[in-house]
This record gives sequence, structure tokens and C-alpha cells, in this order.
Amino acid sequence: MKEDFFKYQAPTTPFASGLEISHASGSKIYDKHGKEYIDMVAGVSALPLGHSHHAVVKAIQQQAEKYLHVMVYGEFAQEPAVRLCKMLSNSMPDPLEMTYLVNSGTEAIEASLKLARRITGRSQIVAMHNAYHGNTMGSLSLMDYEERKAPFRPLIPNIKHINYNCLAHINQITTSTAAVIVEAIQGGAGFIKGDKRWFQQLAARCKEVGAMLILDEIQTGVGRTGTFWYFEQMDIVPDMVVSGKGLAGGLPIGALTASTQHMEHFKVAPMLGHITTFGGNPVIAAAACATVQEIISRDLMNAVMDKELRFRESLQSKHIKEIRGTGLMLAIILHDDRFTSQIVDECRERGAIFFLLLFEKRAIRITPAYTVGDEDSTKAINILLEVIHKFYD
Ligand SMILES: Cc1ncc(COP(=O)(O)O)c(C=O)c1O
Repeated sequence: MKEDFFKYQAPTTPFASGLEISHASGSKIYDKHGKEYIDMVAGVSALPLGHSHHAVVKAIQQQAEKYLHVMVYGEFAQEPAVRLCKMLSNSMPDPLEMTYLVNSGTEAIEASLKLARRITGRSQIVAMHNAYHGNTMGSLSLMDYEERKAPFRPLIPNIKHINYNCLAHINQITTSTAAVIVEAIQGGAGFIKGDKRWFQQLAARCKEVGAMLILDEIQTGVGRTGTFWYFEQMDIVPDMVVSGKGLAGGLPIGALTASTQHMEHFKVAPMLGHITTFGGNPVIAAAACATVQEIISRDLMNAVMDKELRFRESLQSKHIKEIRGTGLMLAIILHDDRFTSQIVDECRERGAIFFLLLFEKRAIRITPAYTVGDEDSTKAINILLEVIHKFYD
């Protein structure tokens, strides 16, 4: 299979491991030789309940037997999508009550940018330095890494970058600004937490100048930081919340939630302002409902906070400069980036899956399922520490 993987499946990097997957369950992945790996990445924060959780699989199976796809998004009332939108509305404060379902995080970001332009009649978008919001043209335009953007220009115009967590930059948001888009915790930049005072002033400034505050909760959402949404900890109410990744327990999804008044803009002038064939797909929506239900009913957000403490206690080494993030969105920062990817590779060879971050090259990502067992965590962390010491001692 590996040969065909490299021959037929389009690559993203020259360095893919091509680990040949046989099956996965909970926090374990098995390769085709039967070797077991403890998964500390959870599909890059996309598996809050781990691999093939029985509640998610059951919801998928039950829905698959009823219908897979009957109509493009927004025409017919399909119970799983309706239920999911209602659950998302219940999880957020007023006036965030209406959700548009799409197929990926980046697609939900695109929808949010379009909606902000449509609501305000303005075009400027303020984004953060070192942000990551996805890879389609609009989302890519929000990035400020010139080397990643330059080959794809021209991108969408009128994007301004300010510093995350910088109070002094907030007044660069003006009455020309359609929207400010911000990650709840900066992921690719190194799991940098948003400061509460900054978020509150950012929200106040947006209100003052009539700009939409779009909060990207794609990675932080559905409980990963110990609350269902990270913005609950910031005591703000954004104009739009974008979610995805873990929302459907391992199936592709994106969601944009806003007020009814704002969402109405997609249906007039022009009608069909945003459309998608598969957004709100019933099988995926059923998986998402089961995922959300399980996280809430099993009190998994409390488990997330307990597990964070255990991770922080066990990640002790003179070679670890810092542990960033919160809940089960954690990253260790090494003193330099000399061996990061070799450490990740060797951990995998020894049976523990960790991963890198996009921009912060000294970081190793620890974003396991909320259901990861203590024994597995300890084993994986011991492997990580041993390998770090092997490279640095
Ligand atoms: C904060 C954030 N925004 C947007 C995205 C893009 O989501 P997707 O890969 O589903 O398009 C990601 C994915 O890593 C993300 O972490």
C-alpha cells in the first residue's frame, strides 16, 4: 500500500511517513503489521471521543440505513442537521442561534467572511499575525506568512494584520473594518492563549465601530479547552462562531453560527448567497449530535481539565522550555527546533503518536481524545521524555 500511497495519492510534503493504517479504536491506532500506537494527536484535534467511538458509529449506522443524502443544503428539513443546529444554538448565548453547516473548517471561514461583508457592506478584514484559518483562497488570504502566500497570489485584497493579544493594536480596527477574525487560541503559532482583557477590549472595539467579531473555535471548540467553547472563559459574545474539526467525532464538518438577523443575509440579495451540496449531510450531522451528546452527558469537559493537570505534572524535563495551551490542547515548547521532527518520528517508531505545529517549529502537539486513559498517557509521555533526552543529553 505504501508504494501506491506515494505513487497515486497527491502529497502535501516530501516527508510523509506513510504509516500504513489497519484500524483504530479509542486512543490506539494499529498498523498493517499489527503494531499498536498510542494516539496523542487524535486526528489533529478532530476526535474528541477517540477513534470509532461506539456512540458515534451507532449514530452513523442508524442514519446510513435511513438515508445518506437527499437534497442540497437548506431545501428539505432533515432531522440530524436540524437537531445539530439546535444543539449548537443551545450551547451558545443569545443571539447566537442559527447555524450554517458546511463540509470543513476552512469552508465555514469562507462563509463567515462573505457574511461579514454582506452584513456591513465593507470589505476590510482584520486578521492576526501568525493566524491559521485554513487553506482555501479566502482563509489563506488571512495568513501573514508570505512564503506560503506568495505563490498563490493574487489573493483576496484588503486584509490587515494586527498582533494577537496586543491592546495597542486594537484601535487599528475602524469603521472601514467589515470583520475581525481571530482564533480563540492561536494554534499553528504555538498554542498561544488569548488574554481575557484583550478579548474583551477587542469585542468592545468591534461593537464600537460596527465590525463583526468572528471567532475561530475550529480547534478549541466542543470541549477541548475544558468549556464547550473557549469564548465562555473570555466572557465575550462574538458575532460569529466558526467550528469544525472535532464537532462530528471524526467526520468532515464545518459550522458557522450567528444571529438569525445576520444569517438572513444569505437568503436575499442575492438569494443563495452561500450554497453547498453536502453541507449538513445527515450521516455527518448524526455523528455530530452523538459526539456533542456524549461530551455533555458524560461530563467529559471535567475529565479534560483533570487530564491537563496530569499531563502538566508528568511533562517534566530540563529540555522542555514551556508547556502551552489549555485543557487537552497542549504543546511542549523545546529550547530550539533542531530535533523536533526527528523526536516525533522516533516516538512514532516507539509506539506513540505526537505531531508538529504549523509555524512554531519548537513545538510538539499533545491533543489526545478526551477519553484517553491514564495508563496510555503515561506510557506515551514516558516515550516522549525518553526520546527528548536521547536527542539532547
Ligand atoms: C484554527 C483553525 N482554523 C481553521 C482550520 C481549517 O479547518 P479545515 O482543515 O477543516 O479546513 C483549522 C485546521 O487545522 C484550524 O486549526
